[in-house]
Formats: sequence, C-alpha cells, structure tokens
Amino acid sequence: MASDHVIETEGLTKEFKGFRAVNNVRLRVARGTIHALIGPNGAGKTTCFNLITKFLQPTTGRILYNGRDITAMKPHDVARLGLVRSFQISAVFPHLTVLENVRVALQRTLGTSYHFWKPETSVAVLDDRAMDLLEQVGVESYAHLQAVELPYGRKRALEIATTLALDPEMLLLDEPMAGMGREDIRRISDLIRRVAANRTVLMVEHNLSVVADLSDRITVLARGEILAEGSYEEVSSNPAVVEAYMGTGHG
Ligand SMILES: Nc1ncnc2c1ncn2[C@@H]1O[C@H](COP(=O)(O)OP(=O)(O)OP(=O)(O)O)[C@@H](O)[C@H]1O
Ligand SMILES: [Mg+2]
Repeated sequence: MASDHVIETEGLTKEFKGFRAVNNVRLRVARGTIHALIGPNGAGKTTCFNLITKFLQPTTGRILYNGRDITAMKPHDVARLGLVRSFQISAVFPHLTVLENVRVALQRTLGTSYHFWKPETSVAVLDDRAMDLLEQVGVESYAHLQAVELPYGRKRALEIATTLALDPEMLLLDEPMAGMGREDIRRISDLIRRVAANRTVLMVEHNLSVVADLSDRITVLARGEILAEGSYEEVSSNPAVVEAYMGTGHG
C-alpha cells in the first residue's frame, strides 16, 4: 500500500547515558507539506533531526522513508535517496565566489561521473545551472562576490541553493531563521514556500510567527515526547502546549 507519508518514525527513542532525549516518537510527515517541529529548549528537536538524517543511531525504533526502512543506513546514503538536511553536504566555502560555491555543490552531486571534458558537465553548463539556482534563491546579483562578503540572510539563501543543487525530495531545515532580522525572515520564508512547492519540508523553528505562516502541520515536542499535533490554531490553543512553553522565553 502506498503511503502518503514521506517520513514515518515508529517508537523512535534516543538515550544518552540513560537520559531519554527522544522517547517513543511516532512522527509522520505527509508528502508535499511543510511540517514544523517545535517545542521548548531541550525538547529533543535537533536529536530527532539527527536521527532522521542518520547522524545519530536510535537506541530503539524505526525510521521509514517513502515506506523504506532506513534505520540502518548511513547519512550519505539517505542523502542520495533524496532526504537532505540543509548545511549537511553544503558547507559554504567563504573564499569561493557565490557562483563557485553552487558549482562545487553541483559537481559533487555528479560525483565520480563528473568529467569536465564531457559537454553536459562543462563549466559553462554547470555555471548555467548554478545561475538558475542562484536566481531561485534571489542571490544572482551577488554571483561574483566571495561568499564571506554576503550579508547574513543572503548567506543562508546561498546555503539553501547549495542544498537544492542536490535536488532533494525532502528538505530538513534546523532553525532556518536563527539570527535573522525581519527583512531576511520575510525573504527566507518566501524562499522556503517556493522550494516547498514540489518538495516536502520538515523544519525546526523557534520563531512561532514563521511557524504559523509557513506550516501545514505542526508537531510539538516536550521532554522528548510528542505533546500535541495539528494546525497552528490547534496546537497554539492547546493548554498543555501553552504550559510547556511557559517560562522558556519562546512563547
Ligand atoms: N550528544 C548528547 N549527549 C548527551 N545529551 C545530549 C546530547 N545531545 C542532546 N542531548 C540532550 O538531549 C536533550 C535534547 O536536546 P536537543 O538538542 O535535541 O534539543 P532541542 O529541542 O533541539 O533544543 P533547542 O531548542 O535548544 O535547540 C537535551 O537535554 C540535551 O542536553
Ligand atoms: Mg536544537
């Protein structure tokens, strides 16, 4: 039976020296949606991300990606299947230009099949594709600047462009708005909405107005467990959620 969930976890649990950072989580992310994972500091959100992208091995539980059990797989193998975390493979090289950064990401996806003498992988062809990606994230006018010279928000956009170079089916974003001002938040929100048009996005984000604005569905974690799930209206009016957020500075 075809599942309409790109990601499904069963009993996902991670212990650190006996401390359960993630406890029996059943997370289901529906295809084509923007799904937010929220919760107070220390709730286990980043640990969940690390489990799903295979940077951490769960203590117990299973992870299904498109119905396929990926629990025993390595990070680069799940990335190759299309499950990609922003900033995973896409470290930005500060002293390469913006264009060169995306070209490197494109070359990397070609892996051993990359031969610059083949017409389809010539520098000119790669540069065309790289410029396309830069346009998609709105940094094409910065193409020939060194990455280090970019304003902060534009650098995050470049990081997303290098992630998109892998053409992921599912994108995981851990706090994409961290450290950003209003203008950048609006620009990156628009960008996430656009890249989500033909993808699935799972996002950890503390900025609740961004979560309200972008998310189709929200899972609230607290103390490693799922506390609530639903639309923003549903979870934000849930007394248990309000209580979990009280005094955390994120409410
Ligand atoms: N490698 C580790 N070793 C021991 N404890 C860890 C480790 N990683 C995380 N923890 C603990 O697990 C809990 C969950 O951490 P996690 O980073 O997943 O929370 P989070 O929801 O992402 O929080 P934040 O909103 O602050 O980013 C915390 O109590 C944290 O101290
Ligand atoms: Mg975190």
